[in-house]
Amino acid sequence: MSAISTERVLDATAQDLLFREARTANTFTDEPVSDETAHAIYDLIKWGPTAMNNQPLRIVYVRSPEARARLVEHMSPGNKAKTSTAPLVAILAVDIDFHENLPKTFPHFPGAKDAFADRNDRVASARLNGGLQVGYFIVGVRAHGLAAGPMAGFDKDALEKEFFPGGNHEVLAVVNIGKPGPDAWYARNPRLDLHEAVTTV
Ligand SMILES: Cc1cc2nc3c(=O)[nH]c(=O)nc-3n(C[C@H](O)[C@H](O)[C@H](O)COP(=O)(O)O)c2cc1C
Repeated sequence: MSAISTERVLDATAQDLLFREARTANTFTDEPVSDETAHAIYDLIKWGPTAMNNQPLRIVYVRSPEARARLVEHMSPGNKAKTSTAPLVAILAVDIDFHENLPKTFPHFPGAKDAFADRNDRVASARLNGGLQVGYFIVGVRAHGLAAGPMAGFDKDALEKEFFPGGNHEVLAVVNIGKPGPDAWYARNPRLDLHEAVTTV
């Protein structure tokens, strides 16, 4: 694959798809989202950068009715209906023991794994870098022509026990995925203006 030219930019249509016109969906059509698409989303967003290339994100795609019921049970009341009806749902978690992969993913620095010997350091790094990867995931869903409905309203401890019983993962978000259905959007809320969020020093 060729190196990225500094002269290439996304055109306005692509920017709209990813950001300006992209919305958080709250209802979905029943059009399925295939495993092929679900896997393509990961194969795209895995290229987003993380510290020391540590890639703590782990994704569980929830498709079967049995797994869906186990998930919905632990969602907040306002999130149950949409999580029940979205064509596909992703549980986005981080592996606190991501450092085991550093000899493979950061091989030019043999001390990388030992630098994360302290579990507290790993939790902090997993939350930061996993949070970044959640963002890449949402944009990756949109890049595939689908709408994402990210949610943090769930019983975190119960969800972790249900889907990651080993105790080495934290769930950061659950994301509904599909084509938007009727009345899919809440009112668009304003974003902070440039001067409220950005300074140059
Ligand atoms: C990390 C995260 C957690 C969220 N949690 C919930 C949630 O639990 N329930 C919900 O209905 N919306 C949730 N949202 C949706 C946000 O309120 C929504 O993305 C935001 O208001 C922007 O909406 P818009 O994309 O339509 O402009 C969450 C979004 C994010 C990114």
